[in-house]
Amino acid sequence: MDSGKQITFPLMMCVGAAVIGSLQFGYNTGVINAPQSIIEDFINNTWNERYNEPIPSSSLTAIWSIAVSVFSVGGILGSFSVGLFVNNLGRRNSMLLANVLAFIAAALMGFSKMASSWEMLIIGRFVVGLYSGLSTGFVPMYIGEISPTSLRGALGTLHQLGIVIGILIAQVFGIDSVMGTRDLWPLLLGFTFIPAVIQCILLPLCPESPRYLLINKNEENKAKTVLKKLRGTTDVNADMQEMKEESRQMMRERKVTIPELFRSPLYRQPLIIAVTLQLSQQLSGINAVFYYSTLIFKKAGVAQPVYATIGTGVVNTAFTVVSLFVVERAGRRTLHMLGLLGMAVSAIVMTISLALLVGLSSTKSPDNLIFSDNATKPYLSLQEVQGMSYVTIVAIFAFVAFFEIGPGPIPWFIVAELFSQGPRPSAIAVAGLSNWTANFIVGMGFQYVEVLCGPYVFIIFTVLLLVFFVFTYFKVPETKGRTFDEISSGFRQTAVSGAEKHSPEELNSLGADSQL
Ligand code: GLC
Repeated sequence: MDSGKQITFPLMMCVGAAVIGSLQFGYNTGVINAPQSIIEDFINNTWNERYNEPIPSSSLTAIWSIAVSVFSVGGILGSFSVGLFVNNLGRRNSMLLANVLAFIAAALMGFSKMASSWEMLIIGRFVVGLYSGLSTGFVPMYIGEISPTSLRGALGTLHQLGIVIGILIAQVFGIDSVMGTRDLWPLLLGFTFIPAVIQCILLPLCPESPRYLLINKNEENKAKTVLKKLRGTTDVNADMQEMKEESRQMMRERKVTIPELFRSPLYRQPLIIAVTLQLSQQLSGINAVFYYSTLIFKKAGVAQPVYATIGTGVVNTAFTVVSLFVVERAGRRTLHMLGLLGMAVSAIVMTISLALLVGLSSTKSPDNLIFSDNATKPYLSLQEVQGMSYVTIVAIFAFVAFFEIGPGPIPWFIVAELFSQGPRPSAIAVAGLSNWTANFIVGMGFQYVEVLCGPYVFIIFTVLLLVFFVFTYFKVPETKGRTFDEISSGFRQTAVSGAEKHSPEELNSLGADSQL
């Protein structure tokens, strides 16, 4: 199939408008990192104004941790609510409506300083978390449904590209020569307003998902018109046929609620796969790097930790682009396994280099904790520190690069691929909930576990990465080049004939003959 012909302007415009939601998610993931100390000063000043005394350090830590992590709490709730919107309002209108949350959040965060209220900051973070949680469901669903089969992986990866670009923009905007200053930080957080305005202008120009129009609304003509526009051709029979086939299946399934999703043996296998892939993304430890990289670099003796952090953002973005170009050739399964394995190896190298720093320091200092606050620097020769710092930087960059090869983008879009129209919204809600919950656990737990394990903290992620590698090898089928209907009928057949005995290779061959 010549995919060149299928990349039309209307298609790219729809995908582009949708991934502004992904960008917002990434931006708000990365934005809170660099300006931590100046926002803490603001909290302290506000406290002082109100109570005429400096804030106790435990209260400051608590307020700060809540402001950071309440974002994931919003994400958990938002991602779980996806099904409430998409079936009634449609995919596009749901995305459009969610912007109300982005505007409210931008106003709350942007005016929090003026109003001397850190409560507004916390509520704003929660509300933008809600928006982001909804986006992680809406965007992959919409893109998956409007993309031609042969481009579904590549276009699905654009969701992740939006996220990583958002993180990178936030990292750059957050430095003190841009907006990471005492005066400008409210603007930095309120910036979310701008992408929301752009999305509100673009989305009304984009059509509703043709799958939603045909399968959920039974509006065949409208669906056909939209498809013609998206595909840039009048011959959309193959797509229409495939959607109708899925629609016929839907007559039997109808809308599947979340409890039904758990009860039916038909969905058991794809559900286990979807949830495990989400867990593999978050429990890989990626956000330990994105939330705490500056801290890790600092403690590994890196001279300019903030710039090393921006380096992770650049590597992150570059390798998402690599994945974009190879995902339709190499396939999801292979890339996911390669990414997990590469991350495991990088984590081992990172651990060795950090542990060596501890070893080096312990020969010269009684304080042998690299991660302790008395960092090793004073006890090591400059060369020793520099050598180890470089190894640590390279290992962290490699860790991030391998993440974006597979475990970053693939779990997000594969859920839409593993389920047909009926159970898709519920499945995406459950998968999103698992992802955000694991994100929250890593974000909250990492610092505590790091205190316990010191430089060996990444060993935990290494073990998990290997477990997920084995799971992917045995359980995850390839979805590349197969229509939604072929994928779900593959699962249907295995469910009927006793799912557990089938290998991914067998699953792949079920109903997948037309892929080449
Ligand atoms: C994925 C994860 C997100 C992480 C990002 C890093 O999108 O879901 O939590 O921060 O990748 O690139």
